[in-house]
Amino acid sequence: MATNRTFTMIKPDAVADQHIGDILAMIEHGGFRIVELQKVTLTPERAGEFYAVHKERPFYGDLVKYMSSGPIVAAILEKDNAVADFRTLIGATNPANAEEGTIRKKFAKSIEANAVHGSDSDENAQIEGAFFFKS
Ligand code: PPS
Repeated sequence: MATNRTFTMIKPDAVADQHIGDILAMIEHGGFRIVELQKVTLTPERAGEFYAVHKERPFYGDLVKYMSSGPIVAAILEKDNAVADFRTLIGATNPANAEEGTIRKKFAKSIEANAVHGSDSDENAQIEGAFFFKS
C-alpha cells in the first residue's frame, strides 16, 4: 500500500546556486505539502551514515564528500502516492536521462550534483525522514 509521505534533500550544488526557492515551488506546484523543512550542513560522518547502503559502490567516497561540501535542505513531503510521484517529479538519477519538466532536467549538473534526492521506497522514506526529523 502506498503511503502519503516521502523524504527529499536539495543537494549542495542546487543550494549554492540559489535554487532552493525554485525547487520548493516546483514541489508545491506538483501537489506536495511540505510537512518538515530544515537547512543543515552534514558532516562527512553524517553523510556517510545516510548513504551507508551505498558503501560498497565505487562512488561512495565522492558522494559523501560532495554531500558534506555545503548546506543541504532536508524535507518531508506529503501527497497521495508520494514516493512514486516524487520520483516522477524529480526525473532520472542521471540528468542526461531526465525528462523535460523534471527538477533534475532543469537543475542537475551531473549524476553526482543532481540537485535533489528522493526516497526510493516507503520504508526508506520513513528511515530517511527520521534521520533528520524527530516527529
Ligand atoms: S537510485 O536513485 O538510488 O536508483 O540511484 P543510484 O544509481 O543507486 O545512486 C544512488 C545515489 O548515488 C548517487 N550517484 C553517484 N554519486 C557520485 N558519482 C556517481 N558516479 C554516482 N552514481 C550515483 C546518485 O546521485 C544517488 O544519490 P541520491 O541522493 O540517492 O539520489
